[in-house]
Amino acid sequence: MKPREIRKGVQWMGAVDWNRELFDALIPLPDGTSYNAYLVQGSEKTVLIDAVDPTMIDVLKRQLADVKKIDYIVSQHSEQDHSGTILQFLDLYPQAMLLCSSKAKDLLIDHLGIPAEKIKTVEDGETLSLGDKTLRFIYTPWVHWPETMVTYLPEDRILFSCDFMGSHLATSDLYAGENPYVIEAAKRYYAEIMMPFRKMIQNNLKKINALEFDLIAPSHGPIWDHPKLIMDCYEDWASDRVSNLVVIPYISMHGSTEIMVNYLIEALVERGVSVQKFELSTTDIGKLAMSLVDAATIVIGTPTVLVGAHPNVAYAAILANALRPKLKYAAIIGSYGWGTKAVEQISGLIPNLKVEMLGTVLCKGLPQETIFTELDNLAEAIKAKHAMN
Ligand code: FEO
Repeated sequence: MKPREIRKGVQWMGAVDWNRELFDALIPLPDGTSYNAYLVQGSEKTVLIDAVDPTMIDVLKRQLADVKKIDYIVSQHSEQDHSGTILQFLDLYPQAMLLCSSKAKDLLIDHLGIPAEKIKTVEDGETLSLGDKTLRFIYTPWVHWPETMVTYLPEDRILFSCDFMGSHLATSDLYAGENPYVIEAAKRYYAEIMMPFRKMIQNNLKKINALEFDLIAPSHGPIWDHPKLIMDCYEDWASDRVSNLVVIPYISMHGSTEIMVNYLIEALVERGVSVQKFELSTTDIGKLAMSLVDAATIVIGTPTVLVGAHPNVAYAAILANALRPKLKYAAIIGSYGWGTKAVEQISGLIPNLKVEMLGTVLCKGLPQETIFTELDNLAEAIKAKHAMN
């Protein structure tokens, strides 16, 4: 795609990666992604904000073909999808200096081999005059690494936010508008990338709320031209509020755990509690992560394999533990043939979940009436806890 002007002297550049299916060899990308860079040309200085993933360097090179001079390249975030080609662009524009936060300097040297003498750090709140435009750098740690910062262009009322408020979405649309499909992609992105840093996000939102902007220009996905939309979503997602929702990731090998899960779902629905069920041998883990953004409770369902939990369930538990959702309650249900340590194992995998355990229901072989009574009691306990939120 060619560069696209978003304001006079400000151009979107970068690459739309329609075909990418996986990020970090972990995160499914059902809608591809983009790596957005921005060229800001003031009356005196020209700045490139972020670059592109190494696989797409030729795209950005073509877009910059007519740009004779770049004075500064800004690295808002050291990760390779934005900064992995900066060394090559510093070679193409040898007069350019690289600007980054104080924490980013070591990362850019260690990860990307950028020479220290090419790097100039900026302080939180520092401004850079480009002549008739000004850039203000604002530290926003942990969106998504400790060194991340955003860049504010007050004359054009644009906030360049890098990963923060991005979406993994390949689209020809430059702007998000009020498209619910983009919000959905942004929620998936939040769940997979931002959710572990929820408390820091609350602080960063306060910081950028003090600014006045009409556009939020992230480095993934379309530009937010109704910025309140995504700001409100982030405020909600990062808040401590939970929904009357139970998420049930589970596996069943011979049917017993499936019977228990289905019974529990009916018992919860009868009590006015919403449920999302994820069968872990086929589920999209991104959808599971999204459900954890709002849920009050997780119920993990597992059969027993060689005394422990099913490996797919252990994987889901490790993932949920890493994502640190704002869950308040948890329970474990499942089955075994002759003996099990599955509950102890799963419990040991989720120390980051600051949840109240509402109990376990385990059955030997096929579930009997006593098991259904225990599941009714669990549903009742969940209903009562949810009513308190
Ligand atoms: Fe898009 Fe954390 O990199």
